Amino acid sequence: MQKIKRLAVLTSGGDAPGMNAAIRAVVRTAIDEGIDVFGIYGGYEGLIHGEVMPLSRRSVSNIIQKGGTFLKTSRSEAFRHKAGRKRGAEVLKEWNINDLVVIGGDGSFHGAHKLYEEFKVNVIGIPGTIDNDIWGTDLTVGYDTAVHTALSSIDKIRDTAASHDRIFLVEVMGRHAGFIALQVGICGGAEEILVPEKETTLGHLGKMIKTWSKSGKTSSLMVVAEGHKLGSANEIAYKLKNNFNVDCHVCVLGHTQRGGSPTATDRLLASRLGYHAVHALLNGKTDMMVGWSNNHITHTPLIETWEKKKDLDAELLKIYRILSS
Ligand code: F6P
Repeated sequence: MQKIKRLAVLTSGGDAPGMNAAIRAVVRTAIDEGIDVFGIYGGYEGLIHGEVMPLSRRSVSNIIQKGGTFLKTSRSEAFRHKAGRKRGAEVLKEWNINDLVVIGGDGSFHGAHKLYEEFKVNVIGIPGTIDNDIWGTDLTVGYDTAVHTALSSIDKIRDTAASHDRIFLVEVMGRHAGFIALQVGICGGAEEILVPEKETTLGHLGKMIKTWSKSGKTSSLMVVAEGHKLGSANEIAYKLKNNFNVDCHVCVLGHTQRGGSPTATDRLLASRLGYHAVHALLNGKTDMMVGWSNNHITHTPLIETWEKKKDLDAELLKIYRILSS
């Protein structure tokens, strides 16, 4: 066991429901181990500006059920550069802190890895992003809630689509990853699911729309991940109108997917990972992410979390058309 006297925690990148639950777990586990805990407000940007505050057990009362992150977050441009990271490391040193838990996605993990590599700050990452696109963990904190939020909107859209005999294109988040699109598409009974990982042509969409109407469908729903090569849902609707004279209604779910009270699955995951992040540091682990795979806690070198690619479930990609036919 390492002797750690002081530890800091921050949230970085896009917020995700469950981040508060993760902070709470880190703070209370550390205090239980006799460690003084500090919260860094505003992610790496806040670190650079010295936004460090002591946290107590009571600082994290009544937040497990709250969306967002009470520590606030940022996408820091300055921290992408060594000068920014140097300033961040200096701030930590001024506070006599050499151990840091970073809750965020791959961009945040890049920053954490550099902080360790260049300035020997011990870092442990907790995967917190609605995108679920992190290698080394089956789930990221926030993904399950985002899926539930998107799905409840899709169910509502289905009602109105069916009443008016309409085709809907629903755009969900995921610039580079189709995890949300695939899961809500399957669970919402979507006729078509467009994910960035898989190419689809406009011609194929036109053909599918004809098939649906021939098979007696009076309404249908396509789920589009925002990063699809064919364009945004609005652009795809425009192209379908121009090329096939097909009218599609569009609903962009946008940032609604990032908010809201975390599901039980996300609270549980965040609580587990928060606890294990502190214990990883105590056990001398650094430059790693704690994750959850096959019902076990995992420790993955940060570099692998973005260098290795987590694939979409190939079977789901294959079967959704059969199930919605
Ligand atoms: O990484 C999470 C995410 O919500 C992505 O799905 C989305 O593409 C992006 O963040 C949006 O980021 P921002 O809120 O900074 O525009």
